[in-house]
Amino acid sequence: MSSRRLQQIIPSVATSDGAGVSLRRSLGRAPEARVDPFLMLDEFSSDDPDDYIAGFPSHPHRGFETVTYMLDGHMLHEDHLGNRGDLLPGGAQWMTAGRGIIHSEMPQQESGRMRGFQLWINLPAAEKMKPASYCDIRPEDIPTVALPGGGEVRVIAGRVQIDGREVAGPVQGITTEPLYMDVRLPANGRFHHPIPDGHSAFVYAYEGSLAIGDESDVRRLPAQSAGVLGGDGPVTIRATDGPARFLLLAARPLREPVVQYGPFVMNTREEIEQAVADYRANRLT
Ligand code: CO
Repeated sequence: MSSRRLQQIIPSVATSDGAGVSLRRSLGRAPEARVDPFLMLDEFSSDDPDDYIAGFPSHPHRGFETVTYMLDGHMLHEDHLGNRGDLLPGGAQWMTAGRGIIHSEMPQQESGRMRGFQLWINLPAAEKMKPASYCDIRPEDIPTVALPGGGEVRVIAGRVQIDGREVAGPVQGITTEPLYMDVRLPANGRFHHPIPDGHSAFVYAYEGSLAIGDESDVRRLPAQSAGVLGGDGPVTIRATDGPARFLLLAARPLREPVVQYGPFVMNTREEIEQAVADYRANRLT
């Protein structure tokens, strides 16, 4: 039986975004560093308010979805639709920009740790111009499942199968069928999970390094790196150098052309020019 192997490592690079938020970008650090339909993954993690206090003031998006998942800290989301979402530790927000959203994400703390992730997932051509929508996911709405050998999994999107039990995350019904889980393993812990054949998948190790693959082909993924999974079948992940925490993401690839200009992700240059013109003319949304 085939299984997934670690095919490519995308190390994160330190950068900043918004009004000067320090972060580490793995997917999306370059146009070729994408895993269709995943466009970008940023990790922000700091105890120093200077690294996050400026936040992400009002800015637009068109053509994809943004998913913010908080581990520590408190941010407030506001958008042109009138949504106000409190992002609390262990919570998430799923925002479908569609034809256009204008939003801000601002820290609600002046000290302490701010830590989490922002993921960008592409929309199919047929859905890029659909109306924007927003979903606030409270920490208690994300199921946490204990692993048989120790550790746990939080399920943000899709369905997981653990120990013969299926657990569904709060986000369902998206065309690319994303699976988004946050896994914590003790030292020498093991995580084994199916991934639908043909779906793209990657792992982001955010605490500790990992050993990925079955016995015939085990490869090491260093911390703060994204590991793209090749092949088909299930994936086996071990924490061989101490406890570890990682995100596991999978989704159905779109196989459509991607043209990105900052916060706009479309299929053609003309559509990007339209997005810029619409934004300048106050017609984005
Ligand atoms: Co944004």
